[in-house]
Amino acid sequence: MAQIIDGKAISAQIKDELKQKVSDMKAQGKEITLAVIQVGTDPASTVYVGNKKKACEYIGIRSLAYELPEETTEQELLSLIDGLNQRTDVNGILVQLPLPAHIDEDKVIRSIAPEKDVDGFHPQSVGALCIGEKGFVSCTPAGIIQLLKRSGIEITGKECVVVGRSNIVGKPMALLLLRENGTVTVAHSKTKDLASVTKRADILVAAIGKPKFFTREYIKEGAVVIDVGIHRMENKKLCGDVDYDDVAPVCSAITPVPGGVGPMTIAMLMSNCVESASMQW
Ligand code: GUN
Repeated sequence: MAQIIDGKAISAQIKDELKQKVSDMKAQGKEITLAVIQVGTDPASTVYVGNKKKACEYIGIRSLAYELPEETTEQELLSLIDGLNQRTDVNGILVQLPLPAHIDEDKVIRSIAPEKDVDGFHPQSVGALCIGEKGFVSCTPAGIIQLLKRSGIEITGKECVVVGRSNIVGKPMALLLLRENGTVTVAHSKTKDLASVTKRADILVAAIGKPKFFTREYIKEGAVVIDVGIHRMENKKLCGDVDYDDVAPVCSAITPVPGGVGPMTIAMLMSNCVESASMQW
């Protein structure tokens, strides 16, 4: 039977390590502050932002919440970010995505000072990852590397297949696996004969954005399967991009949904906040 990779337990462990680190920093008179900006009232964003604020509270990071109305102009948002960039008491800045259609998301991401870019979305952060320099790494793929390492799964020399090429998950995931000496293939929805590619994977990262897409026909016997997807089914239950019940019996390890990759994203955001503060002092 497959090892179930427990993202809830691993993220709790990381958060406890960070809590200790933050407490040590506080003892030296150093406080960490994260600014969290949400524009509009998208219900999913409200839940994510709420969870980020809760994690800050647990770890001992001060969060400054900016809940801006839907009609906020791009200029108003850019001015707020500019002010936060200049504040020495603010270590990290997070703008929850998606933004309303009238605001240029790329422009907003570029406006965040790279040393405060705890989401790792700024082109400078992405470029640094690409050439192996220090910089913030997008939280979901960084969390997946932690899941693998803390579960004792070796990456060096393994065939790694990432299905999905988004800037937030697929592309940084491929770069991180490469950095860990994996042999990396990036596939996507237009890949021909996808199953023949995914069947090569010792480690498969599924981020195609389609509920229960990956059945056992896509999986090599004994593979490690990491499921990035999260979808609400008609019966209100959550599922991932992987058909868990079908795939679990043939793989060696698998992340559940919920409780796999999801909790790691926030844990890594907290880790980036602690790192941002350490770098700024
Ligand atoms: N929206 C969905 N995921 C994310 C994330 O990781 N960061 C931000 N800022 N917005 C998101």
